[in-house]
Amino acid sequence: MAAAPAYAKNFKIAVGDSGGSSQEATGIGFVKALEELSGGKHTATLFLNGQLGSEQDTVNEAAIGTLDMSILAINNVTPFSPTVGVFTLPYVILSLEDAEKLTQGPIGQELTENTINDAGVRIIAWTYTGFRVLTNSKKPVKSVADLQGLVIRVPKNEIMIDTYKAWGISPTPMAWSETFAGLQTKVVDGQDNPYTTINAMKFYEVQKYVTNIRYIFSIEPLIISEQVFQELSEEDQNIILEAGKAATAASAQFLRDKEAEIKQILLDEGMEITDPENNEEEFIKLATEAVWPKFYDSIGGVDKLNAVLAEIGRDPV
Ligand code: MLT
Repeated sequence: MAAAPAYAKNFKIAVGDSGGSSQEATGIGFVKALEELSGGKHTATLFLNGQLGSEQDTVNEAAIGTLDMSILAINNVTPFSPTVGVFTLPYVILSLEDAEKLTQGPIGQELTENTINDAGVRIIAWTYTGFRVLTNSKKPVKSVADLQGLVIRVPKNEIMIDTYKAWGISPTPMAWSETFAGLQTKVVDGQDNPYTTINAMKFYEVQKYVTNIRYIFSIEPLIISEQVFQELSEEDQNIILEAGKAATAASAQFLRDKEAEIKQILLDEGMEITDPENNEEEFIKLATEAVWPKFYDSIGGVDKLNAVLAEIGRDPV
């Protein structure tokens, strides 16, 4: 086993999104707490906007220890550790409070252990980014019928691909780092991500219509390479874990403080925001009926989904 470094460390943190994003808020919260808790011994530097590679690539890099940390959407972790998919099943998490309860409770802890074993990365903080709303450049979408004919980008994530298939279209999987260009050159008509991400990434420059679908509440963990973590002294490991808790709290505060303001910025930038008709009923029915059963095995069985639903006070399937 490698000796614990007695020297100060400047951790490199890859961040998928740009400045002003929820991911950045988590990163800033982490750096601040790390510096305070280590008495200035350790620091960390954020590399924003996918500078260190696509979100999925950063998981591989952290796994082999060539990258210290990454902040990325949970849907980009699922391919490496399928049980975290329980957080991206459509219409499971219905509020920020649900997200906080699940990630900070026993289920979040269990998924952290799974990512260590499956992917060689440890989740040390959670970013809460809000619901992934649908944007597109062509027309207002209120119903599943309106969605037909649109080419929608999704991450390379089977649950999300199958959700759009349940809604009748075949989406285009594309890395996050290529998405702005894909929208700009009209290779794709639309995508989904939360308001704060749409704003930070300036998607209003290339997208006009927003539909408030609420199928996924976006959760974006801060992961550390397990190899890097194990090389730290126990004292430094505890500092990292405590700084992670502070980062999680900073992220929740950012969303509570900023989401409404950011929605207004999108309107001021000329986006048109609409709600799906009939309280999203058709979207919900099609997605949950087709997608949930298909992923029971990969998330660890239907009992796992029921445990999640129970923890947030919902009826079992
Ligand atoms: C994605 O759509 O790939 C992610 O949500 C991007 C992000 O990290 O914001």
